[in-house]
Amino acid sequence: MHYILAPLRGVTVRTFRATFAPALSAEGFESCVSPFIPALSTKVNQSSLRDVSPADEPLPCVPQAIGKDPAALRALLEAFRRLGHAKADLNAGCPYPMITRKGRGAGLLRSPDVLARMLEAGVEAMGPGNFSLKVRLGVESPDELVSLMPMVNRFPLANLTVHARTARQMYTGRPDLARFLDIAAASSNPVVYNGDFDPGDPESPVASAILKLKPGSAGAPAAVMVGRPFIRNLALREDSATLLAAYLDATELELCGRSSVLGRMKELLAYWREASPAWQRRWDKVKLCRTIAELRMVLGCRR
Ligand SMILES: Cc1cc2nc3c(=O)[nH]c(=O)nc-3n(C[C@H](O)[C@H](O)[C@H](O)COP(=O)(O)O)c2cc1C
Repeated sequence: MHYILAPLRGVTVRTFRATFAPALSAEGFESCVSPFIPALSTKVNQSSLRDVSPADEPLPCVPQAIGKDPAALRALLEAFRRLGHAKADLNAGCPYPMITRKGRGAGLLRSPDVLARMLEAGVEAMGPGNFSLKVRLGVESPDELVSLMPMVNRFPLANLTVHARTARQMYTGRPDLARFLDIAAASSNPVVYNGDFDPGDPESPVASAILKLKPGSAGAPAAVMVGRPFIRNLALREDSATLLAAYLDATELELCGRSSVLGRMKELLAYWREASPAWQRRWDKVKLCRTIAELRMVLGCRR
């Protein structure tokens, strides 16, 4: 199976991708999608591109845009191309009401005309087969995307990644595998499955259901995108403490300010606490840390 690292804003950032490269290759990841970069204006904010500079990327990385303005999207995609990227992705899955209310992220599903113009701009800017869409099953109902498939199929996409939940579900409840299979059957573009797939637990209900589909058969995904399960599993590696120390060092070099560094590290460790009782106990101390020195003490990551 082809595995793609999912974008998680604040977690799977460039420094994370570079530091945890040994784990990504050990788990068979072949590519990744960057956390989203806002396409808000035709004047691209250069500092927003820092996370997708291709230098030092361990895997091919597809930069992701979020927005609803085709002209702003074109400008951002041009900037991606100038950095050397041949592919790009559009976020139509972000479920937060602050974003969807403005018609961005999963909010694009409520405006099929706008989504069509964004796909048109994306395919024109990147070329046929080089632009992809990451999407939810719907905002309120899991039937919304199915009804948009004739429109989506008009565009020659690199792939259509389906997080098999509605936006309303956020990140909870079960992925809807039956609806995913309906989309996969209706799609003229390659489809990527996403949602609760743990490559480290092939017997789990989601992984076993997906893995039992014969490659190339109706509904079988071309690839699987994995986010939280991979991030949690990192905590169980023998070298987790070493990688974490390297991540803290690299994060301190990258970010200015105590609260950004603490925030970034706590984002990751909030996943690790779910992986084992030992990390849960460490988390209980980590969450109280107010300085980087305290965090280093708790984690045993002295310089
Ligand atoms: C904290 C967080 C940040 C996320 N950021 C993004 C993002 O920037 N772009 C995106 O398309 N999806 C984003 N997602 C969604 C994930 O890419 C993925 O679709 C979701 O976590 C389900 O996959 P998983 O069960 O393998 O984690 C985010 C999810 C979380 C929990």
